[in-house]
Amino acid sequence: MALYGTRALLYQAIPERQSWTSFRKAGVQSCPASMGNKMDGSYTISPGSGLRGKITVAGDKSISHRALMLGGLAAGQTRIEGLLPGEDPQSTAHCLRALGAEVSEIKESGVRVQGTASGSFCEPQQVLDMGNSGTTMRLMLGILAAQPGLFCALTGDASLRSRPMQRVAAPLRQMGALIWGREGGSKAPLALVGQPLQPIHYASPVASAQVKSAVLLAGLFCEGWTSVTEPVRSRDHTERMLAAFGAEVQVEGTTASVRGPVRLSGQSLRVPGDISSAAFWLVAASIVPDSELLLLNVGINPTRTGILDVLAEMGADIAIEDARLSGGEPVADLRVRTAALQACTIGGELIPRLIDEIPILAVAACCAAGRTVIRDAAELRVKESDRLTTMARELRRLGARIEEQPDGLTIEGGHPLQGADVESHGDHRVAMSLAIAALVAQGRTQLADGQCAAVSYPRFWEELERLQGRE
Ligand code: S3P
Repeated sequence: MALYGTRALLYQAIPERQSWTSFRKAGVQSCPASMGNKMDGSYTISPGSGLRGKITVAGDKSISHRALMLGGLAAGQTRIEGLLPGEDPQSTAHCLRALGAEVSEIKESGVRVQGTASGSFCEPQQVLDMGNSGTTMRLMLGILAAQPGLFCALTGDASLRSRPMQRVAAPLRQMGALIWGREGGSKAPLALVGQPLQPIHYASPVASAQVKSAVLLAGLFCEGWTSVTEPVRSRDHTERMLAAFGAEVQVEGTTASVRGPVRLSGQSLRVPGDISSAAFWLVAASIVPDSELLLLNVGINPTRTGILDVLAEMGADIAIEDARLSGGEPVADLRVRTAALQACTIGGELIPRLIDEIPILAVAACCAAGRTVIRDAAELRVKESDRLTTMARELRRLGARIEEQPDGLTIEGGHPLQGADVESHGDHRVAMSLAIAALVAQGRTQLADGQCAAVSYPRFWEELERLQGRE
């Protein structure tokens, strides 16, 4: 049984620089392009020379949400460095302010949260608008459902209103929550009246960190142990951060448990760079000839590094430098150089470890020799867009040979891409993946609705221009 807490995270000494494969085996825990943003949010991208330079990627989105939420629940002040100033964490900050927590302006240099000391939220005067953020809605549902007497209405943009909330509402109802919503209580707008909840042992049918986190966060307000067992372990940032804030957390196999009631105490945290944002540069530098990038301070939590495993298998040249522990999370600098990629098969237990990276892996597969098969990834159909459909449709417009399957994609790589008109479907990861594909397409690509990259990576376009030497 693993007890989560900084002391329990043993980190062995490792050489300063090594390949991802040897790093993992060592058993450590696991002509410049032109681009323009038109007023309508569309971007023009043309291929150019290699990408070169150093980059500090945006703060981890998952960790940023959790830092704000736990800071909002804790007694005293929480100071957060490196928080992602993206639209999604802004949605979380906005909700917490509406509930009475004091959250300073979100700046990467530092954010202060004056917590409400678990359970003393005030009733929000307005509907809580969670924008595009599934993490905000699902995790906040767990917290809010456990605040006795509190009435809240929750909504979001068209994408969020179409996403399944039953997966979170169902276990919370088993705990005694009163939640209503559209389509039989399964879609936003949602309404709830907080109740005293009972602990449960929940066997989740999906490997979902959002489901697990919602139940564990509700469990903070219950008497006794609340636990969630997943079919495959999902990202564990909630477990790590709850322990850092003073909760009793246990992890055994794919079961995570927390003991309530808990009084969390404010902390000082540093958010690492988001490997899901780094993924765009890892693939870009691999496929654009003559590239070399050094990505600084990237989170390499083992529940998130599936992208590194797959790229290593595809033959990418990625080195791990200066691996270290920062704020309870493993981080490292990643050096990536252009390499000839080979096709691979992606599925099974790997999927939750790279779920958000599949759109950019589909781009890598277009540039890899042979047939790449992605399976067991039906979860992608309920992300910010149906990412299997949107990626297949848009990459096909660029000339890719890509077929959609019910639970994945089949991609015949190694066929040249051609610039074309493509669209993001309002999905930040689709937008950034298409931008990287456009770097290796012949001619100009016009990407509609590219500004949605700001959901998770506000400086994406600026950084792309800089790395191409176009500042
Ligand atoms: C997230 C978990 C994942 C991921 C999402 C962020 C989180 O979703 O796709 O972008 O912060 O917990 P699921 O938990 O639904 O798999």
